[in-house]
Amino acid sequence: MKIAVIGVGYVGLVSAACFAELGHTVVAVDNDPAKVAMLDAGHMPIHEDLLPELVKRHHGERLHFSSDIREASSDADVIFICVGTPPAINGDADMSYVEGVARELAASLHGHKVVVEKSTVPVGTAEAVQRTMLLHGASPNHFSVASNPEFLREGTAVSDFLFPDRILLGVPNDRTGKLLTELYQPILDGSYYQRPDAIPGDTTKAAQLIVTSVKSAELIKHASNAFLALKISFINSVANVCERVGADVREVALGMGTDSRIGPKFLTPGIGYGGSCFPKDVLAFRSVAKQVGYDFTLLTEVMEVNEDQKERFVAKVREALWTIRGKKLAVLGLAFKGGTDDVRDSPALELVRRFVEEGAQVTAYDPAAMSRAQATLPPGSVTYATDAYAACLNADAVLVLTEWPEFADLDLARVRKLLKLPIVLDGKNLLDPNKVKAAGLHYYGVGCCASPSPLPVSSAPAPRVAVETAAA
Ligand code: UGA
Repeated sequence: MKIAVIGVGYVGLVSAACFAELGHTVVAVDNDPAKVAMLDAGHMPIHEDLLPELVKRHHGERLHFSSDIREASSDADVIFICVGTPPAINGDADMSYVEGVARELAASLHGHKVVVEKSTVPVGTAEAVQRTMLLHGASPNHFSVASNPEFLREGTAVSDFLFPDRILLGVPNDRTGKLLTELYQPILDGSYYQRPDAIPGDTTKAAQLIVTSVKSAELIKHASNAFLALKISFINSVANVCERVGADVREVALGMGTDSRIGPKFLTPGIGYGGSCFPKDVLAFRSVAKQVGYDFTLLTEVMEVNEDQKERFVAKVREALWTIRGKKLAVLGLAFKGGTDDVRDSPALELVRRFVEEGAQVTAYDPAAMSRAQATLPPGSVTYATDAYAACLNADAVLVLTEWPEFADLDLARVRKLLKLPIVLDGKNLLDPNKVKAAGLHYYGVGCCASPSPLPVSSAPAPRVAVETAAA
C-alpha cells in the first residue's frame, strides 16, 4: 500500500521506517528541509535503537523523504498525521500543527484518502480535522478520518511497533477499518515474523486487533498514558511510606505486581516520570475532562506526587551531604529515561538545574543525551565528563538519575576509589544496594535500603519470638 507520513519526529520516523519494513511504500514528509536533507544523507535526527538499520534497509527503495506535503500525499492511499501536539500555556494540547496539515491536505486530495491521526490528540480531534478539511474545500466523498494511536516507548519504539500488545483502530466505517487492518496484516497474521530478515523480538504473544469508534480510540490513548503515569505516582507514594516504616518498595512492588490484575510493569519508583508524553498527556487529559464539565482531580494528584518526588530527592541529597552549596556532584544520566537522547521534561535535567542553583558543582555524563542537555542547560553551568568514571573523580557523591543499563554494571570498587566521599544516591533504584554497600559505599535508594533510622531503639518492631510467646 502507498503511505504518506507527515512529521518525522519520534512517532513519524519510526512509523515510516516500520511501515516500509512491513512492505509498504512510504513517503515521510517534514516541513523542516534540514531534517529531510539529514535523513537523505543517511543521518538520524534521534537516537533510537534499530531505527538506523531499518532506515538504511529501505531508504531509496520503499522509504523516501520529502518536504512537499502535497506531492507526498497525492499518491498515497493512507496519510498518517504524526506532527507535534505540544502543550499550550493553559495545559491544552496545541493543535495548530495538526490543523495546518488538515488545511494543506484539503487542498491536495485526489481520489479517496484515509487520513489517520497517529499523534496523541484530545478526543474530538478527528472531527475537527474532518470539519477543517471540509471548510477548506475537500469533498466528503474523497476522504475519511480515522485514529490509530501509537503506543511506542522511546528507546524501544521499533520493537514496540513491530511486536505490539495491540493495534488500535478507531474508524468511522467498515471500509476504513478493512483498509487499515490490511496495513498491519503482516503483524496480525505473523507472516512478518517468518521472514529471515525480520527484526528479532518476542513472538510468543500475538498482537490483538482492537477496532473501536474514532472517539474511543482517541480516548484510549490519553487514558492509557494517564493510567501509566498514575501507576508510577502510586508506587512513588508507596515508596515514600516504605521509607518511613523501613519496608522495601522493591519487595512490595514484586508482591503487588505478581497479581495479574496489577501487573509488574511501571512499578519502579524514582525521581518522577518525564519525557514528551506523560507530563503533557496527563495535563491535556485533565484539561479535556474539564472542558466537558468533569473535574478529574485524581490526575491533579498524580501530577503533584510527580513534582513532589523531585523535591524528595533533593531532600535526600541534603540528608546525605548536609549542605549542597560547594559540593561536587557526579550526575549519571540526563535523558528522561534510558535508551534515548531525549531530554524533554527530563527529571534529571530539572534536578541538575536545581543543584546548580543551590551552588553545587555538577559534572554529568550521559551515554546519548549530552549534546541535547548541553543545548538546554545554561552555558557553562555544568561540566560534561567523557564517561561515568570521569564524572566521579573527586565528587562528594554520585547521583544516578537515568536508568541506563550501563550504570547498573559500573565497577563499584573503581567508583569508590574515584569519589571523595563514599556516597551513592540512586534516583532510579537501578543499582544493587548490596553490591554498592559491599564496595564500601553508602547507598540511598528510593523507598528502600534507607539510612539508619533516627528513631530511638525502643520504637523498633518487637522481635518475632516475643510475638510468638505472647500468642502461645
Ligand atoms: C510513553 C508510553 O509508555 C508509550 O506507550 C506511549 O506511546 C508514549 O509515552 C507516547 O505517548 O508517545 P515514553 O514516554 O517513551 O512512552 O516512555 P516510558 O517508558 O513510558 O517512560 C516515561 C517516564 O516514566 C520516564 O521518565 C521513565 O523513567 C518513567 N518511569 C517509567 C518510571 O519512573 N517508573 C516506571 O516504572 C516506568
